Order: sequence, then structure tokens, then C-alpha cells
Amino acid sequence: EQIEKGGYEHFMLKEIYEQPNAIIDTYRGRMLVNEGIVRMAGVDDNIERLANAKRILIVACGTSWHAGLVAEYIFEDFARIPVEVEYASEFRYRNPIIYENDVVIAISQSGETADTMAAIKLAKEKGAFVFGVCNVVGSSISRESHAGAYTHAGPEIGVASTKAFTTQITVLTMIALKLAKHRGTISDSDFRYHLQELDRIPAKISKVLEANDHIKLIADKYKEAPNCLYLGRGYNFPVALEGALKLKEISYIHAEGYPAAEMKHGPIALIDEQMPVVVIATKKGHYEKVVSNIQEIKSRKGKIIGIVTEGDEAVRDLADYVIEIPETIESLTPLLTTIPLQLLSYHIAVMLGKNVDQPRNLAKSVTVE
Ligand code: G6P
Repeated sequence: EQIEKGGYEHFMLKEIYEQPNAIIDTYRGRMLVNEGIVRMAGVDDNIERLANAKRILIVACGTSWHAGLVAEYIFEDFARIPVEVEYASEFRYRNPIIYENDVVIAISQSGETADTMAAIKLAKEKGAFVFGVCNVVGSSISRESHAGAYTHAGPEIGVASTKAFTTQITVLTMIALKLAKHRGTISDSDFRYHLQELDRIPAKISKVLEANDHIKLIADKYKEAPNCLYLGRGYNFPVALEGALKLKEISYIHAEGYPAAEMKHGPIALIDEQMPVVVIATKKGHYEKVVSNIQEIKSRKGKIIGIVTEGDEAVRDLADYVIEIPETIESLTPLLTTIPLQLLSYHIAVMLGKNVDQPRNLAKSVTVE
């Protein structure tokens, strides 16, 4: 097992560090940046069906559901197709309305999650076209789908999902760009620009990983907190949910993710000097609004950890700590902002002596409904 961990203390840490290469593996051979082409057999073979969908339903569980939420923003933004993201377990039990020209995208790292599997069986019965985004090759969900695209992240052992999430977003971004191109909702130059920026993401993740020691310091500062709040807006709202989930899963600290603007409708009542609030406040994406949320937290003495764009000054002045991420286009920021949140949870859990790779009560793949 020590050898499999490749010198890292835990699989989770290894998998966090694998993300630059995992993402390269995801787009290698598919994304031809210089030619301005994305080739994905599962999409190309079914392009009319996918691009002409009246609606895309995304079904998933856990972290994969959060990737689905990011995808909702990407698909609607680029391809202008309405998207609904559903917990697979809720979807299947409520007699959902599914039309024959709906496309159902099932996202699953393991490809074995029972609720997601049951949801796609139901969708198929009702005549929808099912597209699987799985990591494990040959898994049940990938076989049950009409078509699909693998994430090619390599085996993920840590129960808390890390590289599966970022590679799912990578695949879903490529699909959305392809559909947008086919539908004419993105210009050629924008399409190429997005490919170039996606190609720069692995190096930018490596840069974020260099902040590991700084993040460890922040973890040490807040490891005793009983609660933690995560806020983000737009593309980074699902990242806030994912950051909170990571902390809950492995450190057993109660954490909640919220859209930053919803804070005033409830969570703000929780804020006092004991409450760390992680705020994703990158330059693109409602920056000024998020800064004013940070001011509200500060005036209630909450502790602020800001995830900011390199060179940011306004949040730095207000926050207790900031973690910088390199600049990129808004739709790709989740691939960067997620990284410090993974590391923060990891270090807190290690410092608290928790079993990081196999947290209590959780399973890597949930094959019961
Ligand atoms: C379990 C795992 C999570 C994962 C979820 C969905 O709860 O602990 O990490 O996100 O299942 O799994 P899937 O394999 O379908 O992505």
C-alpha cells in the first residue's frame, strides 16, 4: 500500500496532487488546441441527438452531483440548452416528467452508484437518451448508457472524491463546448480561446498546489472550529457546496455551503467570532457583490478565509487569510478554486487524527439504494 501511495501519506493527498496530470489525461487526444477541435466519439456519434435536446437532465449523487451543478452553468452559458440537475435518489422516486427528446447525463466516478443506475434505467424506459460520464471503464452505468465519455482520471482510492470531480468538470466543459459549436451559440474564436485556457489549467493547478504549506497553516488555525460556512456565487456556488462536503466527510466538522447572496436569508445568524467562513471571491463572477458579503461577515466578527485571484487587494484587506489562484476564464475557475478547499479539509482531518482515506460510515461506491 505504501508503494501505491507513491510517497504520499494518504491516497487523498496523492490524488489531489495528481489533478494536473489527471486533467491532461482527460483531454489528451480529444482536445486539439492548435486545430481548434474537440473529438469525443460518444458525442460526435450522437451530435444531433445531443445538440438538439430540448432539455438536459443531469442525475448524480454526492460530489458527482456537484460536478453536475457546475455543468448546469456551463451548458446553459455556452450551449443555451436548459439544464436541470437532480439527485438521482430523488429523481427516481417522484414519477419524473421525461420527454423523448430529453438527454439525461449520468455522472458517476465509480459507475456503480445504485441510485444513479436506477435513475438511468427509468430515464431509458421513458425514452430519453442516456449519456454516461464515468471514471471506471466498463462499469455498470457506463454499460447501461446509450453513449458516454470516460473521465480517465485513473483509480481514485480515497473515499472523498477529488480528481474525479475536476476531471468530470473537464469532460463536461468539452462536451458543452462541442454542443455550443454545433448549435452556433459560441463563436469560433471564443471556442478556440476556451480550449487554450483549458489547456493552461493543469499548470495553474500546479501553481495552486504550491500554496500547500500556507493552507496547512490556515488548517491549524481553524481545526478546532465546530462549524464552518462556505460561500460562493455563480460557477463557484457548487464549489462552496463541494468544499463543505469535503470538510464534513473527512474531518466530521459540520459545514454548510451556501450561495453567497443567500447568506442574508439565514446563515448570517450563525456568524460570530467562532465561525470560520470560506468565501470564494475570484475577480470574475460577481466580485463586488461577494466583497460586500465579506464586509457583512467581518462586521459580525466572523473569521474570513478568502479564495481570491492573484493580486487581489480588496479581499486581502478584509480577510484573515487569503489563498490566491491564477486568473482564468470564469467557467474554468471551479477547477482552481476547488483545490485549496480539498487541501484545507485534508490538513484539518489529518491534524484531528481522522481516517482520511476511509472516513467512518462512508463508502467509496454506494451500491445500495
Ligand atoms: C459516495 C462517495 C462520494 C461520491 C458519491 C457518488 O458517497 O463517498 O465520494 O461522490 O458516492 O459516487 P459516484 O461513484 O456515483 O460518483
